[in-house]
Amino acid sequence: MNKIKKAFFCSNCGSSSPKWIGKCTGCGEWNTYNEEIIAKEDKKEAKRTWRENSVRSPKPIPLQEVIGGKTTRLVTPDQELNRVLGGGIVSGSMILIGGQPGIGKSTLMLQVALQLPIKLLYVTGEESEEQIKMRAERLGIQNQQCFILTETNTQKIFQQFKALQPELLIIDSIQTLTSPHLDSTPGSVSQLRECAGELQRLAKETNVPVIIIGHITKDGAIAGPKLLEHIVDAVLQFEGDRHYTYRILRTIKNRYGSTSELGIYEMKANGLREVSNPSELLLSQKEEELSGSSVCATLEGLRPMLIETQALVSTAVYGTPQRSSNGFDMRRLSMLLAVLEKRCGFKFGMSDVFLNIAGGIKVDDPAIDLAIISALVSSLQDIVVPSNVCFAGEVGLTGEIRAVNRIDQRIQEADRLGFSEIYISKYNLKGLDLDRYKLKVNTVSKIDELYSDLFG
Ligand code: TYD
Ligand code: MG
Repeated sequence: MNKIKKAFFCSNCGSSSPKWIGKCTGCGEWNTYNEEIIAKEDKKEAKRTWRENSVRSPKPIPLQEVIGGKTTRLVTPDQELNRVLGGGIVSGSMILIGGQPGIGKSTLMLQVALQLPIKLLYVTGEESEEQIKMRAERLGIQNQQCFILTETNTQKIFQQFKALQPELLIIDSIQTLTSPHLDSTPGSVSQLRECAGELQRLAKETNVPVIIIGHITKDGAIAGPKLLEHIVDAVLQFEGDRHYTYRILRTIKNRYGSTSELGIYEMKANGLREVSNPSELLLSQKEEELSGSSVCATLEGLRPMLIETQALVSTAVYGTPQRSSNGFDMRRLSMLLAVLEKRCGFKFGMSDVFLNIAGGIKVDDPAIDLAIISALVSSLQDIVVPSNVCFAGEVGLTGEIRAVNRIDQRIQEADRLGFSEIYISKYNLKGLDLDRYKLKVNTVSKIDELYSDLFG
């Protein structure tokens, strides 16, 4: 007899429970449990994989006897994507690309699909064939080998997959898929888990790589379930501010490469353009030198970038001074202001302070502190920081300038871009060969030293 089976799932982490509970025992979130129907058919049928009767029962073998793991990688025409994936798409791997709606995930995947010289299947559950066609026309790339399928039922997708025998499968998006073995709604935790599981079996059994697109919730988690993250081999996140054109593709997890790589794109009217030299874009274009702006040599992942920070300090017109920060942690800004006030006697207490990082990107790198305090002081005193000077250093609570990691890479990038001076922490000097660089390396150990050096 078929009995409807139900369970409760946490919409945040995917833990399950036979009863409703208020606080998730897995992730500690409150009120995240929802009831879902998990199986209406009997168990035997629900266990079917994508290819029926393919029952393999592996035996344990000594690791030495496992035949050498020679991973073959499909090198895509997109250098940024290759970099993020650690050299290309590994055969039989499953890659999840997450991002907020409208950020450009479908555009990126279609663009890669159209440029690949192999037979591939692009399954879309979100858009019609006509919409995909329109997007392809906008991208202006033609490809005979790229097949589009509008389908959301996993078993039907697998039938078409078997008939077509593509070398790459792209799913747009996992939240629209439904498995006929389950009765719950598309996008629910149990559906996501089942569909991802079925796709994973397909990838492992056929050795065809599968790329799945997943939407992201507001707070930045790949929609609800963290569970997708451990099923897949690599998780990439596509992020950026919708009001700006830059997009960053970040690795969150990668079984076949480093997680500190980063790809940068620019959204154009005809698709995404790879940005191989980000610093030139992130330094703002201006003719005359103005106060309140300074450049930091930061690292995003492993990539050095020079980013402009801008500060505006003005007299508060209303009673309470305002603090506003774009792309930089607000609490850290308050801390830097407090350090400047206490250690150097600058009075920010009665001023509005606005801070902006150029290009709409967010920076967590502590090395930006030094550039931020120079921009703040420069705006407060209305003295220009010369545009050929950049900074890399962390500021501590006592006003000391602390060493930052990978200083050599930062200096090299600044050197390459033609800066003539860089300010770094005194404690960063160890092991540094200053004769290698064309630019002048200034070292400081306290904020007041920086002030007297820079503004005299
Ligand atoms: P889309 O790929 O549909 O986003 P997602 O799949 O992540 O939801 O991209 C949507 C945005 O990209 C849309 O606002 C229009 C813009 N866009 C361009 O600016 N240029 C282009 O060539 C394309 C195809 C889209
Ligand atoms: Mg889309």
